[in-house]
Amino acid sequence: MTLLVTGGAGFIGANFVHYWRARHPEDAIIVLDALTYAGNRASLAGVDVDFVQGDIRQTALVEQLLRNRGVETLVHFAAESHVDRSIHGPAAFVDTNVLGTLSLLTAARSVWLAGDGTPHRFHHVSTDEVYGSLGPTDPAFSETTAYAPNSPYSASKAASDHLVRAWHHTYGLQVTTSNCSNNYGPYQFPEKLIPLFLINALHGRPLPIYGDGMQIRDWLHVEDHCRGIEAVLQRGRVGETYCIGGGAELLNIAVIDTLCAAVDAAFAADPALAARFPGAPAARGTPTASLKTTVTDRPGHDRRYAIDEAKARAELGYAPARDFATGFAATLAWYLANEGWWRAVLDGSYRDWVETNYAARG
Ligand code: NAD
Ligand code: TYD
Repeated sequence: MTLLVTGGAGFIGANFVHYWRARHPEDAIIVLDALTYAGNRASLAGVDVDFVQGDIRQTALVEQLLRNRGVETLVHFAAESHVDRSIHGPAAFVDTNVLGTLSLLTAARSVWLAGDGTPHRFHHVSTDEVYGSLGPTDPAFSETTAYAPNSPYSASKAASDHLVRAWHHTYGLQVTTSNCSNNYGPYQFPEKLIPLFLINALHGRPLPIYGDGMQIRDWLHVEDHCRGIEAVLQRGRVGETYCIGGGAELLNIAVIDTLCAAVDAAFAADPALAARFPGAPAARGTPTASLKTTVTDRPGHDRRYAIDEAKARAELGYAPARDFATGFAATLAWYLANEGWWRAVLDGSYRDWVETNYAARG
């Protein structure tokens, strides 16, 4: 099989490429990635892939890759993915997430549906944020929950989901879509909650908690997400959507307290960490929790996300393998062992963004 993975140099895309390469060594993998601020060629170091730097909005390039390389499976991760950025600059989200997906669908239709048609699969990776926000006692999101996106990011993802659905119903494109919860794990760009707070803790920088910190997310280890996508590709029904969750609904403040305690324990267990990260409170025996700082809430901040994954369990045999404690411990260990990866990221656009963001929030 030959796969085209869009956004394969980003967080989840890179993890998916590592995952697929390890389990399907006979398959060819082509990565198409524009290497925006969120894309890192280093996240694919040492993995046997054919890397193409390009934009998903270049329809002719996508057509050429699909046709000339005999691609029959496209897994679409490429996106602008951060809610805070979408609040500051929504247009880029429409450009990449909506027009970019349209471009891929156009290319897939023209190559795969020409003549007698080629066996194919277009898998679209989306988010639970398209369903909006839950109250404390509402049932979890499922595939039948009505769309109610609240941020420019989730609105752009919702629009892309609708396009994918329409290309199936109108043109017969063989599509599947997965809507997953908050991922965490290796190679995540340090603008999202967990890697941002980990790296800030190591530098002694504030941990900016939006509002009261009582928002709830369902945390999904990225490797479980990759297994879920593999299950959809292998056993999912064409035209269907599948919700993929981590079964770990947690208050933000609980995640942050777990993180602070884990950093303290890591420094207590390994004296070399104090020399490597002298700015960390934990290096002086001060609790990392002393860095917790309440800042102005995110506008339109969704209160609670939760996923009912009964359909994926029943049809695909999917179940998350890692609980949050195990997954988080592995993630902390990865960030401590891969300082070179995130230092390189810190030298780029991230630092300017964090500083501007802090300045804006006071
Ligand atoms: P990310 O921001 O880490 O990576 C996005 C990747 O897409 C980067 O490598 C970037 O260079 C690339 N890209 C951006 N615009 C592009 C363009 N126009 N052409 C080609 N490449 C482009 O994102 P992520 O967290 O890995 O998310 C991957 C997908 O999963 C996204 O579609 C996102 O909406 C979805 N998702 C993410 C989460 C999460 O918790 N991170 C949760 C649910 C769904
Ligand atoms: P994030 O990782 O941005 O994912 P999403 O917005 O897609 O859920 O944020 C996770 C939660 O953490 C969300 O409720 C916002 C909150 N948060 C903070 O409190 N402070 C921060 O600096 C960040 C980045 C997020």
